[in-house]
Amino acid sequence: MKLVLGADHGGFELKENIKEYLKEEGIEFTDYGTLTGDRCDYPDVAKKVAEAIADGTFDRGILFCGTGIGIGIAANKVHGIRAALCHDTFSAEFCRRHNDANILTMGGRVIGPGLAREVVRIFLSTGFDGGRHAERVAKIADMDK
Ligand code: RB5
Repeated sequence: MKLVLGADHGGFELKENIKEYLKEEGIEFTDYGTLTGDRCDYPDVAKKVAEAIADGTFDRGILFCGTGIGIGIAANKVHGIRAALCHDTFSAEFCRRHNDANILTMGGRVIGPGLAREVVRIFLSTGFDGGRHAERVAKIADMDK
């Protein structure tokens, strides 16, 4: 799986922690920044990451901002993106199983690194159930045709 990460300043520290986790687990990723804790605008990184998933450069992404909300709202503006805000493991499982989420978003000011790592583990290891859920996901894609 080709994985890409992105964050604004509010999510920078959590992104760095998750990068350490991914390295420990031997999971490869690309980091689209921000690469410093300096203030930046979350729509800019959301656009870069979301477009790179929509065009097939990457399969899945993880985006971080202060709350996980703004960066997810922005990412979901890109056709084909299904970004899901998850701060618990149940949501991480079902955003994959039922919604085929291709981006996970989290808030660095909301969730601690221990739970965030578990959310990431589940997001990356859970498949899509398909079936009736595939029909619903297709209806989402039809909405901004
Ligand atoms: C930045 O201060 C903050 O607004 C941003 O990280 C995010 O939480 C927006 O949704």
